[in-house]
Amino acid sequence: MANEASTTKILITGANGMLGQKLVYAGLQDPNLDIIATGRCPNRLVQTQGYTYLEMSITDSERVHAVFQEHRPDVVINCAAITQVDYAEENPSECWRVNVDAVKILLKATAAVSGKFIQVSTDFVFDGTQEPYRETSVVNPVNYYGKSKAEAEKLVRKSGLAFGIVRTILVYGVTDHLSRSNAVLWAIRSLREGKAIRVVEDQFRTPTLVEDLAAGILAIVRRNKKGTFHIAGKDRMSIHQLVIAVSEAFGLTNDAVTPVATASLNEPARRPPCTSFDLSKAKEHLDFEPRSFSEGLQLVAQQLEKITAQP
Ligand SMILES: NC(=O)c1ccc[n+]([C@@H]2O[C@H](COP(=O)([O-])OP(=O)(O)OC[C@H]3O[C@@H](n4cnc5c(N)ncnc54)[C@H](OP(=O)(O)O)[C@@H]3O)[C@@H](O)[C@H]2O)c1
Repeated sequence: MANEASTTKILITGANGMLGQKLVYAGLQDPNLDIIATGRCPNRLVQTQGYTYLEMSITDSERVHAVFQEHRPDVVINCAAITQVDYAEENPSECWRVNVDAVKILLKATAAVSGKFIQVSTDFVFDGTQEPYRETSVVNPVNYYGKSKAEAEKLVRKSGLAFGIVRTILVYGVTDHLSRSNAVLWAIRSLREGKAIRVVEDQFRTPTLVEDLAAGILAIVRRNKKGTFHIAGKDRMSIHQLVIAVSEAFGLTNDAVTPVATASLNEPARRPPCTSFDLSKAKEHLDFEPRSFSEGLQLVAQQLEKITAQP
């Protein structure tokens, strides 16, 4: 797997996204990893040294093959995806092109260089009625995004490549330039603005700190593990409880927060109600130990302070 003595070349797709950014930064801390970051747009990371950045849309077969042939990665981590659930529901062909067809392109290019493929997937492959979900639980997506991710998983499993599939849940964290939002950042912003918000109290998740997710994925790479892993946070809560926890951690009033039922929101895509994971496999094989939600929020607060302190 390694190119030279002990260097592993990792190609990351979707490197401008929330997870992609953190994987690049976490990878840079390890001298045994050689990072090739790729994204469909110019590089949005603040740090530009210590790795190679290449523009590459994963839907562009010719470009993908050329990049893979030139750089010959040992491991490919696919973080690129259409990730907005309602957008996916309303733009099904774009969603399928990126979340499924492009995975075929990446798998073919990975096979051509005999690499290993790690696909990032989601709790939304499940219907949310039978938690806690194990790696072996039966998938049954309830929306188009979930269907596309479940189909991608199938392609990866039958590719014949050495593979990892990492499913995760409601990822949160702070990205460079705050270029990606998420439930926690949305809650902080809404609470600070004193905006009246309606938040569902009947969907339960275990929010995942993006740094923990990146560490879990790199553990798969370093330990050369294969197969499916559930990697998520440890604290189960409703989205309403999440917003209340954020308000308390950041000392913000939650007077304008109203708990509501999912059905009252009339969103384009259905959501699985409860999707917590059984994390025992990741704990045993990867020594994965996620931070608590309150520890995660402390890190978010520190990172936000740094950004606002910048001139
Ligand atoms: N966020 C969550 O709560 C969550 C939960 C479960 C699973 N996941 C999974 O985790 C993975 C990473 O998600 P994330 O949270 O980091 O999402 P994200 O911030 O939306 O990042 C997705 C990235 O994919 C890129 N992308 C989209 N189309 C592309 C294309 N054709 N070619 C190359 N790049 C393309 C986007 O580029 P631009 O930046 O240029 O738009 C973006 O940088 C995804 O597989 C997602 O399904 C996420």
